[in-house]
Amino acid sequence: MTSSTPDPDDHPRPQRFHVKSFGCQMNVYDSERMGDLLSAHGMEAVDSTDAADIVVLNTCHIREKAAEKLYSDIGRLRSPRADGSRPTIVAAGCVAQAEGAEIAARAPAVDVIVGPLAYHRLPALLREAQAGRAIDTDMPAVPKFDALPPRRAAQATAFLTVQEGCDKFCTFCVVPYTRGPETSRPAADLIAEARGLVARGVKEITLLGQNVNAYHGGLTLAGLIRELAAIDGLERIRYTTSHPRDMDDALIAAHAEVAKLMPYLHLPVQSGSSRILKAMNRAHTRESYLATLAKLRAARPDIALSGDFIVGFPGETEADFEDTLRIVEEVQYAAAFSFKYSIRPGTPAATMADQVPEAVKDERLARLQAAITAGSLAFNRGTIGRRCAVLLERPGRKPGQLIGKTPWLQSAVVSIPGAAIGDIVDVEIVGAMPNSVEAVPVSHQESAAA
Ligand code: 5AD
Ligand code: SF4
Repeated sequence: MTSSTPDPDDHPRPQRFHVKSFGCQMNVYDSERMGDLLSAHGMEAVDSTDAADIVVLNTCHIREKAAEKLYSDIGRLRSPRADGSRPTIVAAGCVAQAEGAEIAARAPAVDVIVGPLAYHRLPALLREAQAGRAIDTDMPAVPKFDALPPRRAAQATAFLTVQEGCDKFCTFCVVPYTRGPETSRPAADLIAEARGLVARGVKEITLLGQNVNAYHGGLTLAGLIRELAAIDGLERIRYTTSHPRDMDDALIAAHAEVAKLMPYLHLPVQSGSSRILKAMNRAHTRESYLATLAKLRAARPDIALSGDFIVGFPGETEADFEDTLRIVEEVQYAAAFSFKYSIRPGTPAATMADQVPEAVKDERLARLQAAITAGSLAFNRGTIGRRCAVLLERPGRKPGQLIGKTPWLQSAVVSIPGAAIGDIVDVEIVGAMPNSVEAVPVSHQESAAA
């Protein structure tokens, strides 16, 4: 190992680590689990890379910019600090998986390279790294979840990964290559893990998977949600990210029937043009997507929708793009994420003809984002006057303020004397911004009467 970090066995104080997340919610979940694992091995979490003996960079490979961040961080971390030390550097996550050999060649300062399916081996890899760089980008047969310690979450909300990987092979996307094929964790394990989280005070669980609604771990996702809803003390259930193709009737029925399942769905469409959707290999059309949303709205009229969009996919014309703008207006998304198409080497779209010039992508992204922001503001304004429950998650900016989530995943800013993080409070929405709402408390009697 090139760093000056001593052997953990004769260390005078616990080794300090910092895990930095670069990516999606699954990436954040993985970071938490790596943190749990290192803590279980006697190490101590710190808030910044400066104070850390070990820095884990949990990378994202979905777009080119996300990957570049890894190299700029390594550049910063490898220069010695004032006392001459530098941290042990771990490159984890999807860039490590996809470009392990390239990282090894391009960034000699990296001590450990570990993929998202192998991070349960992190403590062993850190030991191996004492003798020279350690790499594990296997997709092992023994699932990592079985090898991880119990969860230590102490918050009101928690993520729970139920499914990993993807077999869909959208032509723009690296996930099927970095996260491997779809695999589901057994329902019994998930129910046990959820009970453990609730026993530690968690009130809301978000089920995670690259294709969460393709879950098939003995139950379907709808079946799993119904089982979880039976856990006393668990108040709210969410799930993300779903594929339109797997939005089956049982799951739609769960939205009508399971009160703990929150009225929010992230259902990426990517483009409003059926021609582009075909080139993306999305296996749905504009029409079939809208038909799915109509069924969902029939089942749960107040459901809030969000989506992902890519602008400038190869061959996208102005007319295709306008179809995307129109779908944003038609659906009235509560929130949405939009990205410029980013070439990912090894994916089919990378070598397609008619790549869209960067300037055109920039211009389309700006127009799309303006439409999305207007839509979010309209959605939030439409909720003014509604009474709902808010799960308080963190302090607000001003004294006395707390920020929580409405059932529709809006961030709600509220001042309630005596309320604490983790409480579920009854409020009325009184004001709207594009990314949050303002709420005031109402008493239980008032809200019951409403
Ligand atoms: N370029 C731009 N955006 C992408 N996404 C996935 N791959 C790419 C790419 N190559 C977006 C999709 C996906 C979200 C997580 O990232 O919109 O839903
Ligand atoms: Fe990527 Fe498509 Fe799979 Fe989503 S469904 S992870 S966009 S390949």
